[in-house]
Amino acid sequence: MSAPLRLGWIGCGTHANEMLLPQVTRHDVVLQAICDISQDSLASTGRRYGVAPENRMSDWRALLARTDIDAVGLAMGPQQHHEVGLAAIARDLPLFIEKPPAATSRQAQELADAAKARGVPVVVGFMKRYSTANRIAANVIHGPEFGATASFLGQYMTAPTYFAKDVDYTGFYLHHCVHYFDLIPHLMGEVATVSARRHELEPGKLLLHVDFRFRNGGLGTLVMGTHQSRGTPMEWWQVMGDHRRVEVRNLHEVRYFRSPPFKVSRGDATLADGEDTLVWEPNFTVAANEDHKGYHAILGDFVRAARGEKLDLPDAAAGARALALLEQAIASAEADRPR
Ligand SMILES: NC(=O)c1ccc[n+]([C@@H]2O[C@H](COP(=O)([O-])OP(=O)(O)OC[C@H]3O[C@@H](n4cnc5c(N)ncnc54)[C@H](O)[C@@H]3O)[C@@H](O)[C@H]2O)c1
Repeated sequence: MSAPLRLGWIGCGTHANEMLLPQVTRHDVVLQAICDISQDSLASTGRRYGVAPENRMSDWRALLARTDIDAVGLAMGPQQHHEVGLAAIARDLPLFIEKPPAATSRQAQELADAAKARGVPVVVGFMKRYSTANRIAANVIHGPEFGATASFLGQYMTAPTYFAKDVDYTGFYLHHCVHYFDLIPHLMGEVATVSARRHELEPGKLLLHVDFRFRNGGLGTLVMGTHQSRGTPMEWWQVMGDHRRVEVRNLHEVRYFRSPPFKVSRGDATLADGEDTLVWEPNFTVAANEDHKGYHAILGDFVRAARGEKLDLPDAAAGARALALLEQAIASAEADRPR
């Protein structure tokens, strides 16, 4: 049996504590050292995950300089991801970077170029690809039976959480919208053009309709906005091909529709393999620690990539692509402001 992966973790805020560290430590890793500029976060994270006080650090450069870590995880923020990410790559440390990997596509491309030049595996935290429902649906869409994708239609909403004081949509764009600028090309293939229309219900409540044309000729529409409650599920998408379509509802239901005949006049009407609709739902009644959101699965790929496995995963280039598409959509939406 191989030794556990020795992990250094930088950025011990809410997301690391609640979603990433609980899942990454279910893999074969040892949390060797953690880093945060907040002493409170360091102390509480260290206690919670059993990291000894001497391995709790406030200087990320000192953490990267350690010789007893095999890989690094970052959950800080866009600016820091870029700076610390470049430094980790320069030390040849395999890297998990939460999204967004940088504040701009140009910076994200620098990360991608550096990772490629040094051959360092980088996994960007686009876990939407890894949620069980999205994985099932993507595998159906990419399977030989489905054929060419014709359309994407979806919505991915949030609330005006980020705007208590300042109406600044940067956080909405970078922290929320960016996910779907990775998921959509993952499902549909390369994007040829993207544009967007905007409607501001009132300051802080922004609605975007984003329009895609894919290289294969297919079309897409994505609705995103900040005017729905976070107390409700807010994610739905559908991909259509020729006489078949896949729908994912709020990550907890997949439906695969094919081309069954009418059943009304058939005395022997039944549900037939190969033509009727297939449905998947998670089994919340079983006593198993299943993470259907995708954090456990993406971090598993990170651990495998850090050990040298070559995998199809959201790499630094995917991070740069997502940010470039996001920037095009924002520019188009800005041009759509009422004058
Ligand atoms: N994929 C998802 O579902 C998801 C959900 C939430 C957040 N995120 C991403 O995770 C990242 C962190 O988000 P969060 O909500 O945990 O934010 P947060 O503010 O709670 O955590 C960030 C942490 O980084 C620390 N930090 C900042 N600068 C540092 C430095 N120079 N050195 C060491 N530590 C430093 C902060 O002190 C803080 O504890 C963001 O990029 C966000 O987009 C992803």
